[in-house]
Amino acid sequence: MKIAMLGSGFIARFYAESLHSQRRKDEIIMVYSRDEKNAKRFADDYNLLYYSTSMEEAIAHPEVEIVLISLPNDLHEIAVEIAAKEKKHVLCTKPLGRTAAEAKNMLDLVESAGIFGGYLEDLCYTPKFLKSMIQVRQGSIGRVLWAKSRETHPGPHSDWFWNKERSGGGAIIDLGCHCVEISRNFIGKQIKPIEVMCWADTQVHPIDAEDHAIGLVKYANGAIGQFEVSWTFRGGMDLRDEVMGTEGTIWLNSFLRTGFEMFTTGKGGEGYVAEKAESNTGWLFPVGDEAHELGYPHMFTDMFTAIEEKREPLETFYDGYVVNAILDAAFKSASTKIWEPVLLEDWRGDEPEKSAIKWTSYDENYYLIKEEVLPNGDMKLILKEKKSGEIIQRIKTAK
Ligand SMILES: NC(=O)c1ccc[n+]([C@@H]2O[C@H](COP(=O)([O-])OP(=O)(O)OC[C@H]3O[C@@H](n4cnc5c(N)ncnc54)[C@H](O)[C@@H]3O)[C@@H](O)[C@H]2O)c1
Repeated sequence: MKIAMLGSGFIARFYAESLHSQRRKDEIIMVYSRDEKNAKRFADDYNLLYYSTSMEEAIAHPEVEIVLISLPNDLHEIAVEIAAKEKKHVLCTKPLGRTAAEAKNMLDLVESAGIFGGYLEDLCYTPKFLKSMIQVRQGSIGRVLWAKSRETHPGPHSDWFWNKERSGGGAIIDLGCHCVEISRNFIGKQIKPIEVMCWADTQVHPIDAEDHAIGLVKYANGAIGQFEVSWTFRGGMDLRDEVMGTEGTIWLNSFLRTGFEMFTTGKGGEGYVAEKAESNTGWLFPVGDEAHELGYPHMFTDMFTAIEEKREPLETFYDGYVVNAILDAAFKSASTKIWEPVLLEDWRGDEPEKSAIKWTSYDENYYLIKEEVLPNGDMKLILKEKKSGEIIQRIKTAK
């Protein structure tokens, strides 16, 4: 497919590297940047046919089939509006909107124009994440009870992120969008997010938005999602997930410790080590293939294949809207300091009653609470009688 890239900054280059570095059939042919020098430099770097300083012109170009939004958060909506008007498919980076209202408008625009709307949530496409999801779907860790996701780093690389009006918030909107969607996938996208409790503060930077936050998202089936996000963390970019289920556990470490550790005295250069790395001397944690570790190639493969196959991608504009609705509740809770409901005027998953918890039966008379092998080899069973509610123990002796 022939792509128009909107923006020529940090993520635009990551996307371009992912799309053009391997042998692929989808190519960027056009870049829009408001600054002509940047547009030309980007076009030269990636051998593009065209560049433009007009967003409308870039999108409307007759050869362009799909628009890839890599602009600051306050420009996502206008870009989607133009793409919908021109009936060009659209892929939008995260977060979809600054608020659920903005995201809902973007969702409505793509749906009524009949165009494809892919939500570029790359961290739901990392090889580790995709493999974990196979295990979760096949029931290897049972019913997911708690899914914690953390993204922390020393803060973003451009002025507009730090401007609450333009970005829509601080670490919650910038990093919480990843964490919330990771947890939602693990818990099950059909399970309704009900309410959110969030602590947020501005601990270090002189900004209006939060630079650190921790939140809990309660789901209709009793599962809890947890996000830990910060622009105050020192030591690089920490991307970790922990999932606890009734039958197992998954721990993922996606960036600082990927199995590649090195030491250098610093002799030999001051090059780039990895995204948000704070040092290039001493012990370092480089990342073998950042684009892959961050999920970009699998993400684009899913998006373009979904367009060809006329199916939905794994991450849609609807998902982006649900994420924004959860984050709206997090912002509200951080200020009211109470659990705040997730307001979803458009809910397409299961109704909450369908998600009620079912206890595990031991036999027709008892529920199983716990079984454990003791040091002497005996097996101890803790059971609850269904009728009376009485809790008892039984021991199956080894000898
Ligand atoms: N993992 C990820 O998926 C990921 C990572 C980083 C950024 N992002 C997202 O990508 C988007 C862009 O972030 P970035 O890191 O590339 O930022 P950036 O500042 O590096 O690049 C932004 C681009 O937009 C342009 N721009 C800024 N203000 C503009 C304006 N008023 N009009 C037209 N163009 C303007 C800049 O010149 C630049 O080309 C954001 O929505 C961000 O959340 C996603």
